[in-house]
Amino acid sequence: MIPGNPIFCALDTTDVTRAVALARGLKGSVGGAKIGMEFFNAHGPAGYRAVAEAGLPIFLDLKLHDIPNTVAGGIRAVLPLEPAIVNIHTAGGSAMMRAAAEAAREAGDRRPLIVGVTLLTSLDESDLAATGVGGTASDQVRRLAGLAAGAGLDGVVCSAHEIEMLRRDLGRDFKLIVPGLRPAGSAIGDQKRVMTPTEALALGADVLVIGRPITGAGDPRAAADEIVRSLAA
Ligand code: C5P
Repeated sequence: MIPGNPIFCALDTTDVTRAVALARGLKGSVGGAKIGMEFFNAHGPAGYRAVAEAGLPIFLDLKLHDIPNTVAGGIRAVLPLEPAIVNIHTAGGSAMMRAAAEAAREAGDRRPLIVGVTLLTSLDESDLAATGVGGTASDQVRRLAGLAAGAGLDGVVCSAHEIEMLRRDLGRDFKLIVPGLRPAGSAIGDQKRVMTPTEALALGADVLVIGRPITGAGDPRAAADEIVRSLAA
């Protein structure tokens, strides 16, 4: 269910009118839209449907993390919305990830891809150490992504800096969903170690999650078109 155009635009707003206008305006210029917990917690399935009616595949970024039975129920509850991608936290463990993947399969060939968040990029090695996890952040990402693949997830969310390692470990079919990207010359904002969309794609990313460089532009469609042109160059 991942379209030819790899860009999913992060619609980080709680304003339904703005989210719908962005989704309509970007149809044809991006491959999909990402709706996060802020929007979904505020507007629920009705808000989701309003955005989805624009016709773009949706990545429902809920980052579920609970006991296996509850996460499976959470996945089942969003299957009628037919999202293209839903995510969960790999830190919830193998049984939780298996339960999520099994629940998604109940939707047959309309099932969403279930991908796992490895390590939040807001955490560093001192945060890991504080929770009793030794080693580097990269070791931890590698371990969690391996568990995700073993549990039957379709892929993981990772930073562009981890693409090469995870491709090597987990093969070509495992989906790598990559945020934290900035087209050359655009504002970095609160992102830290950014890469360009072109670099991430060349390294083997399947989905490029891009928010503010598109949504913050005067003409979001033109900004998206420009990024797509840079990918083809
Ligand atoms: O505006 P920007 O391009 O930074 O948006 C990136 C999107 O990806 C946001 O919705 C952000 O929450 C999400 N994200 C991220 N880094 C992660 C995980 C998710 O930027 N590690």
